[in-house]
Amino acid sequence: MLQVENLSYHPAATSQPILKDLSFQLGLHQLGLIVGKSGAGKSTLLEILAGLARPTQGRITWQGVNLLPSQLRSMAGLVFQFPERHFCGLTLLDEMRFGHPELQEKEIQHALKQVGLEGIPLYSSPNHLSGGQQRRLALAVQLIRGPFLLLLDEPTAGLDWSVRRQLINLLAQLKSMWTVLVVSHDPAELAQIADVQWVLNKGSLQPTSVDTVLQT
Ligand SMILES: Nc1ncnc2c1ncn2[C@@H]1O[C@H](COP(=O)(O)OP(=O)(O)O)[C@@H](O)[C@H]1O
Ligand SMILES: [Mg+2]
Repeated sequence: MLQVENLSYHPAATSQPILKDLSFQLGLHQLGLIVGKSGAGKSTLLEILAGLARPTQGRITWQGVNLLPSQLRSMAGLVFQFPERHFCGLTLLDEMRFGHPELQEKEIQHALKQVGLEGIPLYSSPNHLSGGQQRRLALAVQLIRGPFLLLLDEPTAGLDWSVRRQLINLLAQLKSMWTVLVVSHDPAELAQIADVQWVLNKGSLQPTSVDTVLQT
C-alpha cells in the first residue's frame, strides 16, 4: 500500500504552499484518481511521488517502509503529460533502452505486448506511431523498469474519444499488475475505472465519490 502522510510542498519561490498537508492511501492493485483544475498542484504531487522533488514536510511509505526521493525515483514510474513530446529514441528499441542498454529484445517485446504494441517492428520510429500508440509506448518505457507504482499525468489529454476509450481499457487491465495513480482535470472516463478518488483544490485534497466526479 502507498501511504502519503501530511505531505506539504512550499518551495522558496512561492508565497503560498503548492501542496497543503495531503494525506491519502492507495491499496495494492488499485487505481486512484486525483481530479483538479489546472494549477491545483496535480503534476507537482506526481513529481514528488516520483522522487523528482522533495516535499517540505510529510512522509511517503510503501508497505510501511519510509521512502526517500532517491528510492522513489527507482520504484515509481512517472508518465508525464504529453510524453510523446519527450521521445528521444530513433527507434522503439532505442526509446525502450534509453538509460538501460542492458535490456534484451525479448524483455522489450514482452513490455510492448503488455501495452498492446505487439507486432510493431522494433526498428520503427516512435514519431511514426499514432497518438494512442505513442501513449502506449510511454507506458511501456516505464513498465519495463518494474515500478511498484505507476504515476500518470493527464493520460488521455489530446486524444480523440475512441483512442481515449482504448487507453482507459488498457489502464483498467494494468492495475491487475501495478498500483496506479492518475491525475486529470477531465475525469469522466477515468472515474469509471477508478477504485478510489480525490479532488485536489488549490493544494488541498478531499475524498470524493465516483458520482460526484461524474456530475461535475
Ligand atoms: N517549482 C515550482 N516553483 C514555483 N511554482 C511552481 C513550481 N511548480 C509548480 N508551481 C506552481 O504550482 C501550482 C501547481 O502547479 P501544477 O502542479 O503544475 O498544477 P496542475 O498539474 O494541477 O495543473 C501552479 O500555480 C504552478 O505555477
Ligand atoms: Mg499538470
